[in-house]
Amino acid sequence: MDHVGTLVDAMTRPDRPLVLPSVMSADMTALGSQLGELGVAGARVFHVDVMDGHFVPNLTVGPDFAAAVARSVVPFGGLVDVHLMVERPGYLLEAFAPHADAISVHAEADPHVHRLLGEIRRLGCAAGLAINPGTPIDFVTELIGSFDYVNCMSVNPGFAGQSFIPTTPDKVARLRAVLPDDVWIEVDGGIGLGTLRDARDAGGQWMVSASAIFGTDDPVAAYGALAELAG
Ligand code: DX5
Ligand code: ZN
Repeated sequence: MDHVGTLVDAMTRPDRPLVLPSVMSADMTALGSQLGELGVAGARVFHVDVMDGHFVPNLTVGPDFAAAVARSVVPFGGLVDVHLMVERPGYLLEAFAPHADAISVHAEADPHVHRLLGEIRRLGCAAGLAINPGTPIDFVTELIGSFDYVNCMSVNPGFAGQSFIPTTPDKVARLRAVLPDDVWIEVDGGIGLGTLRDARDAGGQWMVSASAIFGTDDPVAAYGALAELAG
């Protein structure tokens, strides 16, 4: 898709963090209606987790699923953020790009991640550099200029429902201090009412949440509470 200008404009206002529902924990039997209800509640960017069983020990979804999410959210102005947790993700970029506004690839998943970030932009999406909890921020600073956002993992990627790693806010703050203002930081994993504020105050702007939304009896109310806390 081609909403990158809008996306980048929106994210250059670091005072307005967003909560991104992570669709992997949605009710797959009612995907469209659940995403539509979140849209009515104000959700605008939806996070799609793609796992290959190699880079992470779990399998999830492919481009057809991202297309289904896009069909559900584009009518109300929603955007799709694809998080590729796969080895050598280059072969998937062309398949996901038509259904995505933003795509992140892992620094640890390909020796030529700089090339992949350029490819994501060439395909009309915002380019995200994702880093595992153990990856130092030097990896990110070397590539400034090549990405639009950083996905700072706050759990070891692979599963929803894990605990937020408590050193993450310090890492986000160190990233924020070295990144240009127009680069936004996504914080992914273990975000809930007890952790969102620390991640936000450290400088995070995209707060990804699966369990704290879809693992509740009332995902719309849970999203609303998180969004209010995010400000
Ligand atoms: C984890 C995924 C996350 C996940 C977050 O590997 O990248 O996006 O959906 O799930 P919660 O919010 O339950 O930690
Ligand atoms: Zn994710």
